[in-house]
Amino acid sequence: MFPSQLLVFCCFQLVLSKWSMAAPTTTNLFFYQQYLNGKGNKDSYYNNMNLHVDSTFSSVFALRGGNATLPCRFWYKPELGSPREVRIKWSRFPVAGGPQTDVLVAVGSRNRIFREFRQDFAEDASLDMTQLGLNDSGRYVCEVVDGLEDKRTTVDLELRGVVFPYQHPLGRYYLSFMEAQQVCEKQDATLATFTQLFHSWEDGLNWCNAGWLADGTVQYPITQPRAPCGGYELAPGIRNYGRRQLTNHRYDAFCFSSFMKGQVYYFQPFHKMNLTEARQACETDKAQIAKVGQLYAAWKYTGLDECNGGWLDDGSVRYPITRPRKNCGPSEPGVRNFGFLPPQDKWGVYCYKEKS
Ligand SMILES: *[C@@H]1O[C@H](CO)[C@@H](O)[C@H](O)[C@H]1NC(C)=O
Ligand SMILES: *[C@@H]1O[C@H](CO)[C@@H](O)[C@H](O)[C@H]1NC(C)=O
Ligand SMILES: *[C@@H]1O[C@H](CO)[C@@H](O)[C@H](O)[C@H]1NC(C)=O
Repeated sequence: MFPSQLLVFCCFQLVLSKWSMAAPTTTNLFFYQQYLNGKGNKDSYYNNMNLHVDSTFSSVFALRGGNATLPCRFWYKPELGSPREVRIKWSRFPVAGGPQTDVLVAVGSRNRIFREFRQDFAEDASLDMTQLGLNDSGRYVCEVVDGLEDKRTTVDLELRGVVFPYQHPLGRYYLSFMEAQQVCEKQDATLATFTQLFHSWEDGLNWCNAGWLADGTVQYPITQPRAPCGGYELAPGIRNYGRRQLTNHRYDAFCFSSFMKGQVYYFQPFHKMNLTEARQACETDKAQIAKVGQLYAAWKYTGLDECNGGWLDDGSVRYPITRPRKNCGPSEPGVRNFGFLPPQDKWGVYCYKEKS
Protein backbone atom coordinates (compact mmCIF):
# COMPACT_ATOMS: atom_id res chain seq x y z
CA MET A 1 0.00 0.00 0.00
CA PHE A 2 2.95 2.31 0.50
CA PRO A 3 3.62 3.06 -3.18
CA SER A 4 -0.03 3.81 -3.92
CA GLN A 5 0.01 6.45 -1.26
CA LEU A 6 3.08 8.21 -2.52
CA LEU A 7 2.59 10.14 -5.68
CA VAL A 8 5.94 10.90 -7.17
CA PHE A 9 6.06 13.55 -9.84
CA CYS A 10 8.06 13.63 -13.02
CA CYS A 11 10.51 16.17 -11.70
CA PHE A 12 11.25 14.18 -8.64
CA GLN A 13 12.15 11.26 -10.86
CA LEU A 14 14.36 13.51 -12.91
CA VAL A 15 16.23 14.48 -9.82
CA LEU A 16 16.34 10.86 -8.80
CA SER A 17 17.81 9.73 -12.10
CA LYS A 18 20.44 12.44 -11.88
CA TRP A 19 21.40 11.25 -8.45
CA SER A 20 21.33 7.67 -9.52
CA MET A 21 23.91 8.49 -12.12
CA ALA A 22 26.10 10.09 -9.51
CA ALA A 23 25.67 7.22 -7.07
CA PRO A 24 24.41 4.13 -8.86
CA THR A 25 24.23 1.99 -5.76
CA THR A 26 21.80 4.28 -3.97
CA THR A 27 18.18 3.87 -4.99
CA ASN A 28 16.08 5.41 -2.27
CA LEU A 29 17.24 8.98 -2.32
CA PHE A 30 14.23 10.85 -1.04
CA PHE A 31 12.46 9.52 2.00
CA TYR A 32 9.18 10.80 3.15
CA GLN A 33 8.49 11.37 6.81
CA GLN A 34 5.19 9.78 7.40
CA TYR A 35 2.69 11.61 9.32
CA LEU A 36 -0.54 9.74 9.98
CA ASN A 37 -1.16 6.55 11.84
CA GLY A 38 -3.47 5.11 9.23
CA LYS A 39 -6.81 5.85 10.84
CA GLY A 40 -6.97 9.03 8.80
CA ASN A 41 -10.29 10.72 8.53
CA LYS A 42 -11.06 11.65 4.94
CA ASP A 43 -13.95 13.85 5.97
CA SER A 44 -13.05 17.37 5.05
CA TYR A 45 -15.92 19.02 6.93
CA TYR A 46 -14.97 20.27 10.33
CA ASN A 47 -15.68 23.25 12.44
CA ASN A 48 -13.62 25.77 14.33
CA MET A 49 -10.35 24.08 13.49
CA ASN A 50 -7.28 25.80 12.25
CA LEU A 51 -4.43 24.16 10.43
CA HIS A 52 -0.96 25.50 11.21
CA VAL A 53 2.26 24.75 9.35
CA ASP A 54 5.75 25.85 10.19
CA SER A 55 9.37 24.92 10.16
CA THR A 56 11.80 24.84 13.06
CA PHE A 57 14.55 26.40 10.93
CA SER A 58 14.22 28.66 7.93
CA SER A 59 17.61 27.58 6.56
CA VAL A 60 19.39 24.25 6.46
CA PHE A 61 23.08 23.97 5.59
CA ALA A 62 24.75 20.97 4.02
CA LEU A 63 27.76 19.82 2.03
CA ARG A 64 27.83 17.96 -1.26
CA GLY A 65 27.27 14.22 -0.78
CA GLY A 66 25.74 14.83 2.63
CA ASN A 67 22.18 14.46 3.90
CA ALA A 68 19.73 17.13 4.94
CA THR A 69 16.35 17.19 6.60
CA LEU A 70 14.09 20.06 5.62
CA PRO A 71 11.86 20.48 8.67
CA CYS A 72 8.13 20.99 8.34
CA ARG A 73 5.40 20.27 10.86
CA PHE A 74 1.70 20.88 11.10
CA TRP A 75 -0.92 20.87 13.83
CA TYR A 76 -4.44 21.93 14.54
CA LYS A 77 -5.95 24.34 16.99
CA PRO A 78 -7.79 23.16 18.90
CA GLU A 79 -5.98 19.87 19.06
CA LEU A 80 -7.62 16.97 17.22
CA GLY A 81 -9.18 13.91 18.82
CA SER A 82 -8.22 11.70 15.86
CA PRO A 83 -5.76 12.23 13.03
CA ARG A 84 -6.97 13.56 9.71
CA GLU A 85 -5.79 12.72 6.25
CA VAL A 86 -3.91 15.56 4.65
CA ARG A 87 -2.06 16.11 1.42
CA ILE A 88 1.55 17.21 1.70
CA LYS A 89 3.45 18.69 -1.16
CA TRP A 90 7.09 19.69 -1.30
CA SER A 91 8.17 21.88 -4.19
CA ARG A 92 11.15 23.95 -5.07
CA PHE A 93 11.80 27.37 -6.56
CA PRO A 94 14.64 27.00 -9.05
CA VAL A 95 17.55 29.30 -8.21
CA ALA A 96 17.62 30.51 -11.81
CA GLY A 97 14.01 31.67 -11.56
CA GLY A 98 11.05 30.21 -13.39
CA PRO A 99 8.16 28.14 -12.11
CA GLN A 100 8.10 26.12 -8.94
CA THR A 101 8.71 22.41 -9.54
CA ASP A 102 7.12 19.64 -7.49
CA VAL A 103 9.53 17.49 -5.55
CA LEU A 104 7.17 15.12 -3.80
CA VAL A 105 3.47 14.77 -3.05
CA ALA A 106 2.05 12.41 -0.47
CA VAL A 107 -1.47 11.59 0.64
CA GLY A 108 -1.93 9.54 3.79
CA SER A 109 0.47 6.93 5.06
CA ARG A 110 1.01 4.31 7.74
CA ASN A 111 4.10 4.18 9.87
CA ARG A 112 4.69 7.30 11.71
CA ILE A 113 8.22 8.42 12.41
CA PHE A 114 8.78 11.18 14.88
CA ARG A 115 11.96 13.02 15.30
CA GLU A 116 12.49 16.48 16.72
CA PHE A 117 8.78 17.07 17.06
CA ARG A 118 8.28 14.20 19.51
CA GLN A 119 7.42 16.42 22.46
CA ASP A 120 4.62 18.43 20.99
CA PHE A 121 1.38 17.59 19.21
CA ALA A 122 2.59 18.50 15.77
CA GLU A 123 2.83 16.01 12.92
CA ASP A 124 6.04 15.65 11.01
CA ALA A 125 6.11 16.42 7.29
CA SER A 126 9.87 16.88 7.04
CA LEU A 127 11.68 15.97 3.88
CA ASP A 128 14.82 13.85 4.13
CA MET A 129 17.30 14.26 1.31
CA THR A 130 20.47 12.26 0.86
CA GLN A 131 23.44 12.41 -1.50
CA LEU A 132 23.01 16.13 -2.05
CA GLY A 133 24.24 17.48 -5.35
CA LEU A 134 25.81 20.90 -5.90
CA ASN A 135 22.67 22.35 -7.44
CA ASP A 136 20.20 21.16 -4.83
CA SER A 137 20.49 24.56 -3.15
CA GLY A 138 17.27 26.49 -3.28
CA ARG A 139 14.04 27.49 -1.62
CA TYR A 140 11.75 24.58 -0.85
CA VAL A 141 8.07 24.94 -0.02
CA CYS A 142 6.20 22.58 2.29
CA GLU A 143 2.46 22.78 1.68
CA VAL A 144 -0.16 20.98 3.75
CA VAL A 145 -3.74 20.74 2.48
CA ASP A 146 -6.66 19.57 4.56
CA GLY A 147 -9.94 20.10 2.78
CA LEU A 148 -10.23 23.80 2.16
CA GLU A 149 -7.33 24.73 4.36
CA ASP A 150 -4.01 25.13 2.64
CA LYS A 151 -0.97 26.26 4.61
CA ARG A 152 2.66 26.42 3.66
CA THR A 153 6.10 27.28 4.92
CA THR A 154 9.45 27.61 3.20
CA VAL A 155 12.90 26.26 4.01
CA ASP A 156 16.11 27.32 2.28
CA LEU A 157 18.59 24.57 1.59
CA GLU A 158 22.06 26.04 1.30
CA LEU A 159 25.01 24.04 0.15
CA ARG A 160 28.23 25.27 1.66
CA GLY A 161 31.52 25.12 -0.18
CA VAL A 162 33.93 27.30 -2.09
CA VAL A 163 33.35 29.85 -4.87
CA PHE A 164 35.93 30.49 -7.55
CA PRO A 165 35.95 32.89 -10.50
CA TYR A 166 36.31 31.28 -13.90
CA GLN A 167 37.29 32.81 -17.25
CA HIS A 168 37.16 31.52 -20.80
CA PRO A 169 40.61 30.52 -22.19
CA LEU A 170 40.41 33.48 -24.59
CA GLY A 171 40.16 35.91 -21.71
CA ARG A 172 37.81 38.19 -19.87
CA TYR A 173 34.06 38.43 -20.58
CA TYR A 174 33.55 35.69 -23.14
CA LEU A 175 30.77 33.68 -21.51
CA SER A 176 27.02 33.84 -22.02
CA PHE A 177 24.91 32.60 -19.12
CA MET A 178 24.52 29.12 -20.66
CA GLU A 179 28.23 28.90 -21.39
CA ALA A 180 28.97 29.98 -17.83
CA GLN A 181 26.78 27.12 -16.57
CA GLN A 182 28.63 24.72 -18.85
CA VAL A 183 32.16 25.78 -17.91
CA CYS A 184 31.32 25.38 -14.22
CA GLU A 185 29.84 21.92 -14.79
CA LYS A 186 32.92 20.89 -16.75
CA GLN A 187 35.01 21.83 -13.70
CA ASP A 188 32.91 19.65 -11.36
CA ALA A 189 31.13 22.75 -10.10
CA THR A 190 27.95 24.69 -10.62
CA LEU A 191 27.18 28.39 -10.97
CA ALA A 192 27.27 29.92 -7.49
CA THR A 193 24.18 31.33 -5.83
CA PHE A 194 24.23 34.82 -4.36
CA THR A 195 24.37 33.37 -0.83
CA GLN A 196 27.39 31.27 -1.75
CA LEU A 197 29.15 34.29 -3.26
CA PHE A 198 28.28 36.29 -0.17
CA HIS A 199 29.85 33.70 2.16
CA SER A 200 32.98 33.67 0.01
CA TRP A 201 33.14 37.44 0.15
CA GLU A 202 32.92 37.20 3.96
CA ASP A 203 35.81 34.74 3.73
CA GLY A 204 37.81 37.33 1.80
CA LEU A 205 37.07 36.73 -1.90
CA ASN A 206 38.11 39.93 -3.65
CA TRP A 207 37.64 39.79 -7.40
CA CYS A 208 37.35 42.64 -9.83
CA ASN A 209 35.78 40.87 -12.82
CA ALA A 210 32.03 40.53 -13.02
CA GLY A 211 30.65 37.00 -13.30
CA TRP A 212 27.36 35.20 -13.77
CA LEU A 213 25.54 33.75 -10.79
CA ALA A 214 22.96 30.95 -10.85
CA ASP A 215 20.06 33.39 -10.74
CA GLY A 216 21.11 35.11 -13.98
CA THR A 217 22.51 38.19 -12.28
CA VAL A 218 26.07 39.45 -12.77
CA GLN A 219 28.02 40.51 -9.69
CA TYR A 220 31.49 40.64 -8.17
CA PRO A 221 32.83 40.63 -4.61
CA ILE A 222 35.12 43.40 -3.39
CA THR A 223 36.73 43.36 0.04
CA GLN A 224 39.33 46.03 -0.76
CA PRO A 225 37.79 48.92 -2.73
CA ARG A 226 40.02 50.25 -5.50
CA ALA A 227 39.72 52.50 -8.52
CA PRO A 228 39.00 49.99 -11.32
CA CYS A 229 36.51 48.05 -9.18
CA GLY A 230 33.77 50.57 -8.52
CA GLY A 231 36.08 53.13 -6.91
CA TYR A 232 37.33 53.94 -3.44
CA GLU A 233 34.12 55.70 -2.49
CA LEU A 234 32.07 52.52 -2.50
CA ALA A 235 32.21 50.45 0.66
CA PRO A 236 33.42 46.86 0.40
CA GLY A 237 30.61 44.60 -0.73
CA ILE A 238 29.16 42.72 -3.63
CA ARG A 239 28.85 44.92 -6.71
CA ASN A 240 25.72 44.02 -8.60
CA TYR A 241 25.04 44.63 -12.31
CA GLY A 242 21.61 43.06 -11.86
CA ARG A 243 20.01 40.61 -14.24
CA ARG A 244 21.65 40.66 -17.66
CA GLN A 245 20.54 39.28 -21.01
CA LEU A 246 21.28 35.59 -20.75
CA THR A 247 22.32 35.07 -24.38
CA ASN A 248 23.69 38.44 -25.51
CA HIS A 249 25.69 39.64 -22.57
CA ARG A 250 29.07 38.14 -21.81
CA TYR A 251 30.93 37.96 -18.53
CA ASP A 252 33.03 35.57 -16.50
CA ALA A 253 31.49 32.97 -14.17
CA PHE A 254 31.46 32.37 -10.44
CA CYS A 255 31.55 28.62 -9.97
CA PHE A 256 30.78 26.75 -6.77
CA SER A 257 32.29 23.52 -5.54
CA SER A 258 31.85 21.70 -2.25
CA PHE A 259 33.13 18.78 -0.27
CA MET A 260 33.96 15.63 -2.27
CA LYS A 261 34.92 12.11 -1.31
CA GLY A 262 37.82 11.69 -3.70
CA GLN A 263 41.41 12.80 -3.27
CA VAL A 264 43.45 15.37 -5.22
CA TYR A 265 47.25 15.15 -5.22
CA TYR A 266 50.23 16.62 -7.01
CA PHE A 267 52.01 14.17 -9.29
CA GLN A 268 55.31 14.47 -11.08
CA PRO A 269 56.61 10.98 -11.86
CA PHE A 270 60.13 11.60 -13.31
CA HIS A 271 60.15 14.88 -15.14
CA LYS A 272 57.75 17.69 -15.89
CA MET A 273 55.18 16.98 -18.57
CA ASN A 274 53.25 18.56 -21.39
CA LEU A 275 49.46 18.44 -21.12
CA THR A 276 49.11 15.15 -23.03
CA GLU A 277 51.71 13.44 -20.88
CA ALA A 278 50.13 14.90 -17.75
CA ARG A 279 46.74 13.34 -18.57
CA GLN A 280 48.42 10.01 -19.25
CA ALA A 281 50.43 10.16 -16.04
CA CYS A 282 47.24 10.43 -13.96
CA GLU A 283 45.60 7.59 -15.89
CA THR A 284 48.66 5.41 -15.39
CA ASP A 285 48.29 6.17 -11.69
CA LYS A 286 44.64 4.92 -11.83
CA ALA A 287 43.34 8.46 -11.49
CA GLN A 288 42.25 11.33 -13.72
CA ILE A 289 43.65 14.76 -14.27
CA ALA A 290 41.86 16.98 -11.71
CA LYS A 291 39.24 19.59 -12.54
CA VAL A 292 39.43 23.12 -11.19
CA GLY A 293 36.46 22.56 -8.84
CA GLN A 294 38.17 19.48 -7.42
CA LEU A 295 41.38 21.38 -6.76
CA TYR A 296 39.44 24.11 -4.92
CA ALA A 297 37.50 21.52 -2.90
CA ALA A 298 40.75 19.77 -1.91
CA TRP A 299 42.30 23.12 -0.97
CA LYS A 300 39.31 24.03 1.17
CA TYR A 301 38.42 20.67 2.75
CA THR A 302 41.69 18.74 2.92
CA GLY A 303 44.08 21.68 3.26
CA LEU A 304 45.99 20.70 0.11
CA ASP A 305 49.16 22.80 0.06
CA GLU A 306 51.63 22.44 -2.78
CA CYS A 307 54.02 25.06 -4.07
CA ASN A 308 54.24 23.53 -7.56
CA GLY A 309 52.18 24.50 -10.55
CA GLY A 310 50.39 21.56 -12.14
CA TRP A 311 48.19 20.94 -15.16
CA LEU A 312 44.46 20.67 -14.73
CA ASP A 313 41.85 19.18 -17.02
CA ASP A 314 40.90 22.52 -18.62
CA GLY A 315 44.51 23.20 -19.69
CA SER A 316 45.20 25.72 -16.96
CA VAL A 317 48.13 25.50 -14.55
CA ARG A 318 47.44 26.20 -10.87
CA TYR A 319 48.59 25.34 -7.36
CA PRO A 320 46.88 25.35 -3.96
CA ILE A 321 48.36 27.14 -0.94
CA THR A 322 46.86 26.91 2.53
CA ARG A 323 50.01 28.00 4.40
CA PRO A 324 51.29 31.10 2.54
CA ARG A 325 55.08 31.40 2.47
CA LYS A 326 57.89 32.96 0.52
CA ASN A 327 57.99 32.20 -3.22
CA CYS A 328 54.53 30.66 -3.18
CA GLY A 329 52.45 33.62 -4.29
CA PRO A 330 50.54 36.24 -2.29
CA SER A 331 50.36 36.35 1.48
CA GLU A 332 46.78 35.03 1.60
CA PRO A 333 45.89 31.37 1.20
CA GLY A 334 44.37 30.55 -2.16
CA VAL A 335 44.56 28.62 -5.37
CA ARG A 336 47.16 30.37 -7.57
CA ASN A 337 46.49 30.50 -11.27
CA PHE A 338 49.05 30.74 -14.08
CA GLY A 339 46.17 30.72 -16.57
CA PHE A 340 45.78 28.66 -19.72
CA LEU A 341 49.26 27.80 -20.99
CA PRO A 342 50.47 26.31 -24.29
CA PRO A 343 49.93 22.52 -24.06
CA GLN A 344 53.58 21.79 -24.84
CA ASP A 345 54.74 23.61 -21.67
CA LYS A 346 56.21 21.34 -19.01
CA TRP A 347 54.67 21.12 -15.54
CA GLY A 348 53.62 18.65 -12.90
CA VAL A 349 49.98 17.60 -12.74
CA TYR A 350 47.14 17.45 -10.22
CA CYS A 351 45.34 14.11 -10.32
CA TYR A 352 41.98 13.18 -8.83
CA LYS A 353 41.30 9.72 -7.48
CA GLU A 354 37.87 8.46 -6.44
CA LYS A 355 37.80 7.08 -2.95
CA SER A 356 37.58 3.31 -3.23
C1 LIG B 1 23.03 9.75 4.71
O1 LIG B 1 21.94 8.87 4.85
C2 LIG B 1 22.23 7.55 4.45
C3 LIG B 1 20.94 6.75 4.47
O2 LIG B 1 20.07 7.20 5.44
C4 LIG B 1 23.30 6.98 5.38
O3 LIG B 1 23.61 5.66 5.00
C5 LIG B 1 24.54 7.84 5.27
O4 LIG B 1 25.52 7.41 6.18
C6 LIG B 1 24.20 9.30 5.54
N1 LIG B 1 25.37 10.09 5.21
C7 LIG B 1 25.86 11.03 6.01
C8 LIG B 1 27.04 11.78 5.49
O5 LIG B 1 25.39 11.27 7.10
C1 LIG C 1 21.67 19.82 -11.59
O1 LIG C 1 22.80 19.65 -12.41
C2 LIG C 1 22.69 18.60 -13.33
C3 LIG C 1 24.00 18.48 -14.08
O2 LIG C 1 25.04 18.31 -13.17
C4 LIG C 1 21.53 18.86 -14.27
O3 LIG C 1 21.41 17.80 -15.18
C5 LIG C 1 20.27 19.00 -13.46
O4 LIG C 1 19.19 19.34 -14.31
C6 LIG C 1 20.42 20.07 -12.41
N1 LIG C 1 19.25 20.06 -11.56
C7 LIG C 1 18.64 21.17 -11.19
C8 LIG C 1 17.45 21.00 -10.32
O5 LIG C 1 19.01 22.28 -11.52
C1 LIG D 1 53.82 15.84 -25.49
O1 LIG D 1 54.99 15.08 -25.63
C2 LIG D 1 54.81 13.90 -26.42
C3 LIG D 1 56.13 13.15 -26.42
O2 LIG D 1 56.43 12.69 -25.13
C4 LIG D 1 54.38 14.26 -27.82
O3 LIG D 1 54.16 13.07 -28.57
C5 LIG D 1 53.12 15.07 -27.76
O4 LIG D 1 52.76 15.50 -29.05
C6 LIG D 1 53.31 16.28 -26.84
N1 LIG D 1 52.05 16.95 -26.71
C7 LIG D 1 51.95 18.26 -26.69
C8 LIG D 1 50.58 18.83 -26.52
O5 LIG D 1 52.93 19.00 -26.80
